[in-house]
Amino acid sequence: MREFLIAPSLLSADFARLADEIRDVSAAGADWIHLDVMDHHYVPNLTVGPLVCEAIRPYTTLPFDVHLMTTPVDPLVTMFAEAGANLISFHPEATLHVHRTIELIRSHGAQAGLALNPATPLAVLDHVLDMLDVVLVMSVNPGFGGQAFIEATLGKLRLLRPRVDAAMQRTGRPILIEVDGGVKVSNIARIAEAGADVFVAGSAVFGADDRAQAIRGLRAELATVEERVGIAVPQ
Ligand code: DX5
Ligand code: ZN
Repeated sequence: MREFLIAPSLLSADFARLADEIRDVSAAGADWIHLDVMDHHYVPNLTVGPLVCEAIRPYTTLPFDVHLMTTPVDPLVTMFAEAGANLISFHPEATLHVHRTIELIRSHGAQAGLALNPATPLAVLDHVLDMLDVVLVMSVNPGFGGQAFIEATLGKLRLLRPRVDAAMQRTGRPILIEVDGGVKVSNIARIAEAGADVFVAGSAVFGADDRAQAIRGLRAELATVEERVGIAVPQ
């Protein structure tokens, strides 16, 4: 049975108070902590590296979901795995050998995710989907928080859902579809119905004064989907 998970993105947190922000969203009911790593080459923005990941790791027991928007990818995979990342996602355009990078992530005992930009076709998954733990579907162009959700993502999710279901049947293990960018109370139900399992929410959670209320609002929308299509929502 599918389960919906919420992954607040630290990109919209107060970077001067990261430890407090992580404790706050953990107590507020987050499922994962999403850490956006931007290198000013693959994307225009520049954020944090493994030193910060290691420094904030003790402030929660939740899984760290590290989203690498960097090129090259492989040296940072090792550094973030050693800094406490549980899941590492990367963009196929940013590495020469996608299969090798997935193997590298798994060799460190971390889970592996492949991140697809809005214009990246699902065909990139053809020969690697069975190796993945997560398909990260970007619903904005990577680089910044607070952008508007790209509606064409819904069609992509509807095509992806049956492919992931078939891969889970083949492999007998879970593969999650994660959506990243512009997720709000106003659209999360439609995104879930289209096929997503994990919802990254940056500005929707950290932009709210009361993060617990923000997460409850997102979950309440997901509960309406559960009622309609019979999917479990964690309380
Ligand atoms: C964009 C990042 C997202 C971003 C989401 O490159 O990967 O994780 O922080 O922020 P919101 O939810 O504000 O669109
Ligand atoms: Zn992200």
